[in-house]
Amino acid sequence: MKFGDLRGILQYVPQFRGRTFVIALDGAVMASENFSNILLNLAVLRSLNVNLVLVHGAACQIESLAKRRGVNLSSRDATGPTDDETLEVALDAITRLGSDVMRDLTALKIRTVTANVITAHAAGIIGGVDQCHTGKMDRVDHEMLEGFLEKEILPLLPPLGYDGGGHTLRMNSDQVAVAVGVALRADKIIFVTDQEPDFGLDLQSARQISADQGDDLLEKAELDQVCAGLRSKLQQAIRACREGVSRVHLINGNRDDALLAELFSNEGIGTMVFADDYRRIRPATPADVDEMLLMMRRAVADEQLVERNKAEVLARLQDYLVMEIDGNVVGVGALHVYAEEKAAELACIYVKDDHEGQGYGRELVETLEEKAKSLGISWLFMLSTQTSAYFASKFSYRESSDLSSMPTDRRQKWEQNGRNARFLVKEL
Ligand SMILES: CC(C)(COP(=O)(O)OP(=O)(O)OC[C@H]1O[C@@H](n2cnc3c(N)ncnc32)[C@H](O)[C@@H]1OP(=O)(O)O)[C@@H](O)C(=O)NCCC(=O)NCCS
Repeated sequence: MKFGDLRGILQYVPQFRGRTFVIALDGAVMASENFSNILLNLAVLRSLNVNLVLVHGAACQIESLAKRRGVNLSSRDATGPTDDETLEVALDAITRLGSDVMRDLTALKIRTVTANVITAHAAGIIGGVDQCHTGKMDRVDHEMLEGFLEKEILPLLPPLGYDGGGHTLRMNSDQVAVAVGVALRADKIIFVTDQEPDFGLDLQSARQISADQGDDLLEKAELDQVCAGLRSKLQQAIRACREGVSRVHLINGNRDDALLAELFSNEGIGTMVFADDYRRIRPATPADVDEMLLMMRRAVADEQLVERNKAEVLARLQDYLVMEIDGNVVGVGALHVYAEEKAAELACIYVKDDHEGQGYGRELVETLEEKAKSLGISWLFMLSTQTSAYFASKFSYRESSDLSSMPTDRRQKWEQNGRNARFLVKEL
């Protein structure tokens, strides 16, 4: 498991404290050998004072119980009709599963309650087919849930609802998770399944997708290859984003420490569907300076960047941009303007090691170049020891031996610091 550096992990601890995460567990992952590991991850999150609500499915357990009893299921996951026999099997399997989870959470010293918070009505006739005991969501009693969370009790929600008229209804657990997440204004919903969230995207693009990108994906024919369960989870994730949950994660719970690996690294191990633009480039503020200096220090030690002290950075802070992901600074870059020469120096471009190779360097450079253009700068230069090939091949900078074109005071510094950096230029 790759957590990134300890500092990176610690950044998340205060961010997550007191937050509410809805964890949607597939029955299949609850039947897997790795389930005890998932429960341990939940215990870690609880110890960090994350409010957790567990919503669980049971399709896998219902299927195997039906097989043992020789029952033909009318629907395995409540996306179709639930006839009398299916309801009978489902109730037995769900009750057993809930009890097992309760036992395991109690062993981990997590206070747990099975809560009846879903009011539903019978789904009725859809496409000419009577859905019988399959329910449709009416309301989530979020006040009851909030009461439990305030008392540090973890609510465990089975895929069942009641209509107030004496009927038990079978619910689809993904839909329950989204309804609960929206009603609680949860910070995250995390779908834990038994498979990789493989939407046929390359690894980098698959890590985070916006709700709009998710819509495009669903329209694409290739997604027909993706299994129905995953497709439905993506639909639910998009719906949750549109209804106010800003981040929905899809992860493979069979991976070791899947939950922690997803939450405590910027890139994660699954797919995150997000409602807003959580990655952005913005002007640096005084609060960023310590983190910026720490990042730069590593590059200075490797002779990649020239040393700067806090006073120097603060004095030219308006020149610096930072890239942040989920509130954490992961990259930096500066544009020092020489108005008289109509020139600007691209400086201090740095992307943290564990975020390299994902186009962040490119985004930083392009943003700084756009800034230079908007300021009427006609040419850019930079002084590079180890990245001249990067700037030449990716951004068309060329090495120049005409040092006289460099602004005078900058040239004096270059001559004094003895780094022997290459002088790269680019016309805008
Ligand atoms: C240079 C740096 C900013 C690139 O950031 P990044 O986010 O990894 O870059 P991108 O993702 O946009 O680009 C990655 C590509 O650049 C290439 N690349 C990265 N560093 C390179 C280097 N020093 N020389 C040549 N190519 C390099 C990668 O091989 C990759 O190539 P590909 O797209 O063909 O696979 C980053 O490696 C860094 O911070 N380096 C240390 C600090 C430094 O030297 N800064 C420049 C001084 S101003």
